Amino acid sequence: GVRTFSLTAQEGTTSFAPATERGTQTETWGFDGAYLGPTLRAERGERVAVDVANELDETTSVHWHGMHLPPAMDGGPHQEIEPGGTWRPTWEVDQPGATLWYHPHPHGETEEHVYRGLAGMFILDDDATRAADLPSGYGVDDVPVIVQDKVFDDAGQLDLTDDGGEPGTLGGVVMANGTVGAYHEVTTERVRLRLLNGSTARTYTFGFPDRSFDLVASDGGLLEAPLERDQVRLAPGERAEIVVTMAAGETTRLASTETDLGSVAVPFAMGGNDAFDVLELRAADELTPSPEPAWEPSQHADGDALDAADATVTRTFELDERRINGERMDPGRIDEVATVGDTEIWEVRSTVPMPHSFHVHDVQFRVLSIDGGPPPEELVGRKDTVYLEPRRTYRLLMRFEDYSDDAVPYMYHCHMLRHEDEGMMGQFVVV
Ligand code: C2O
Ligand code: CU
Ligand code: CU
Repeated sequence: GVRTFSLTAQEGTTSFAPATERGTQTETWGFDGAYLGPTLRAERGERVAVDVANELDETTSVHWHGMHLPPAMDGGPHQEIEPGGTWRPTWEVDQPGATLWYHPHPHGETEEHVYRGLAGMFILDDDATRAADLPSGYGVDDVPVIVQDKVFDDAGQLDLTDDGGEPGTLGGVVMANGTVGAYHEVTTERVRLRLLNGSTARTYTFGFPDRSFDLVASDGGLLEAPLERDQVRLAPGERAEIVVTMAAGETTRLASTETDLGSVAVPFAMGGNDAFDVLELRAADELTPSPEPAWEPSQHADGDALDAADATVTRTFELDERRINGERMDPGRIDEVATVGDTEIWEVRSTVPMPHSFHVHDVQFRVLSIDGGPPPEELVGRKDTVYLEPRRTYRLLMRFEDYSDDAVPYMYHCHMLRHEDEGMMGQFVVV
């Protein structure tokens, strides 16, 4: 059988209550609703199909961020859907359990479409993630947290003006799942939060004022082992799964604190000093016991491991303010040609005092090194997006397993979406 989903991109109005208090409705876009979209969920090995309909007045597309799939199903700028049009991609889920997401990717318009509200989570399950004993009651102790920042004008309307800022619009209002001042009522000792930085420009550092947490998964699935952390930095497009422990009756809050952006020119102007509350956790007076997360690396990593010794090709990508290797995106130009089955190393560097969030379609890569040294442990797992601190060289290991197609490219780009829209994107084919 084929697990079939449907998604309709549509207009609506949203108040982002409760904490905007004015409760003013503003125009937003969503999938199957006024803002954001449903969480899609599928199993490794399953064939899925999505009936996508575009009821907007503008051309859009839907890209499956983090998914390994044929390029014609990828939902990038070559699979745009006209107003009133439909699209039905189908593929077999062939990768470990992970927190992925979906969002539009129309040429030059991605920032606006995501900012207006088009995005959702796509969760993949498999035996290894189930065996890891993580909290897994969806919406109970396994909670999606899509974090986004917005600017509202004096009339309480979503402000879509390009403020010319770098690395894009930084909103002073931060929301979780489209709600300002969001809270979650915790009924178990441990709760798993699937954090997605769904913002267009802002990089966050998430943590709690009074406790550490277990970082259990990054973009592409489980880490080798849980890492105890006080905070985790997420650039636009990145995800992290964390497990936090609560005591009966207490309250804490997921917050974003000051962010180390690396050696950027003007950190405060890029939001490095900003702090926000994101999600309050309110524990009930009695909590159901939860298992401790526990797993053997071999349970999930073996079949999907990448080995640097297999790499036969090295490519270099130099990013300045808007260009990659001196070029802006041209949909008619193929920038890189990879051979199916090859393992490659991509050396990526921001050559200017500006950070970027580097994303590659189709693959989950591994960060081999940063400036020749080992990356921090939280970057050792499967990744599809990585924050590039300025003037540091990131070596990424990836393999182009299958799906050769010389006619339809995949994208690589900066996930700070104004950068992407203004040309910081390239195209590769796998042949
Ligand atoms: Cu999340 Cu090419 O995008
Ligand atoms: Cu993507
Ligand atoms: Cu960028």
